[in-house]
Amino acid sequence: MSDILRRGRLESVPDEEIMEYTTSLKADRWIFDADILVDFAHTVMLTEQGIIKQSDSGSILKGLLQVREEGIDRLDHSYEDIHIALEARLIDLVGEDVGGRMHSGRSRNDEVATCIRLRLREELLGMMEELVHIRAVLLELAGKHRETLMPGYTHLQHAQPTTMAHHMMAHQQALGRDLERAIDCFARVNRSPLGAAAFASTGFSINRERTRELLAFNEIIENSMDAVSSRDFLIETASVISCIMINLTRIAEELVVWSSTEFSFIELSDQYASTSSIMPQKKNPDTAELLRGKSGVATGSLIALLTICKGLPLSYNRDLQEATPHIWNSVLTCRASLRVAAGMLASMKINEDILAEQSTTGFTTATELADTLVRECDIPFRTAHQIVGQLARMENEPDISDIETAGKDILGESLIKRGLTEQMVKEALDPMLNIKRRNNIGGPNPEEIGNSIARVREQLLVEERKVAKISENIDDALANLMKSVNEFTKDN
Ligand code: ARG
Repeated sequence: MSDILRRGRLESVPDEEIMEYTTSLKADRWIFDADILVDFAHTVMLTEQGIIKQSDSGSILKGLLQVREEGIDRLDHSYEDIHIALEARLIDLVGEDVGGRMHSGRSRNDEVATCIRLRLREELLGMMEELVHIRAVLLELAGKHRETLMPGYTHLQHAQPTTMAHHMMAHQQALGRDLERAIDCFARVNRSPLGAAAFASTGFSINRERTRELLAFNEIIENSMDAVSSRDFLIETASVISCIMINLTRIAEELVVWSSTEFSFIELSDQYASTSSIMPQKKNPDTAELLRGKSGVATGSLIALLTICKGLPLSYNRDLQEATPHIWNSVLTCRASLRVAAGMLASMKINEDILAEQSTTGFTTATELADTLVRECDIPFRTAHQIVGQLARMENEPDISDIETAGKDILGESLIKRGLTEQMVKEALDPMLNIKRRNNIGGPNPEEIGNSIARVREQLLVEERKVAKISENIDDALANLMKSVNEFTKDN
């Protein structure tokens, strides 16, 4: 048997079905580049530690550069995973006496954990940039619609007037927490398990700190058993992604509802719509529906990861191989969803007239009217609530004489005598004045929202720079790694 992994201990090879069942090569596409980087770093460290000769490491690194150049499809796909397939190709190229030395002081267990973390951190950084972008789109919309009235809802019933800016800022803020979560999670993903070997560390005098540095991890995962066997970083990432996706479904749901004839608040750009194969008039919000539906991938992945990891004994178990594809699926879906949602929001048409018209239907100014009675007539809020509640049963919007009648009925006193004027009533029933009075922090008052937009813009810039800085540090470290690789291959 020429299989470099099985030839010693095992006699027979798995048949096609067993192979298909046990291989991770398909999902390992995600970590091909990461694996080469891990091989580079490990080889450089082994050389610096005097564990392999510089002449051998030059050949190994050169071989690895070629394997990278050739790409994953050139590997022998009858191997059970990328790590062994890659090593086998290296041995093909440079011979076993040299290539066979690369895996000293290492196991596929610490190798795979390192590769997953490397790739995942890259995805997380991309996801953070996408979160910044969608928030910027929402901020832009908010900036344009500080005075665009609309009905605000509770229980999906008209509740009080608000503005489109206020509404967009709510979604923006939720996605802001998602960004915070992603940044926190990143710090735990970006730790190095390399050097843990199978689980028990190694008798070679390796330098874990050096490979950490070469691969730009911010810390080492100290205990070697934990390093190879923990996948809580996947669970954490999947849960961050689930939060993002659940927040996006709330936007998606509104886009679907708002684009219905009954609402007609918005019209999605044709790019994001589909039509019917039978009903020629239809414009369906399919992309928003898919966004809503794709959240299932994220929550499904989270549950799968939790289930796979539950009750696993220390240390490495092959079950862990089943965990990895779920995170890729989840990350892929989430990142695309963020981009598509941002595009849909940026390109939708907002029907300001309909929104303004609807902002007062359902007597949405009732709260302000009750508040006015409290402020101007010095009556308890609970009494004002009853008076206005009774007025709400009427077909028409109440005028001052309706209010006076209800007041006498419930309070037994004249509200006009207590100071109520027609002007006060008119103002209470004006949706824009309702909005303007709500000028506490976080309220819909256009100036307050303007302040809020300015604050968040600044904060977003800081976060954007933070993400860019992390990427830059990683790029610098990897450029240094390549310098070492070039140094070692120079005379080879
Ligand atoms: N393909 C494996 C995984 O994803 C790599 C580690 C294999 N280790 C082992 N002891 N069989 O987990």
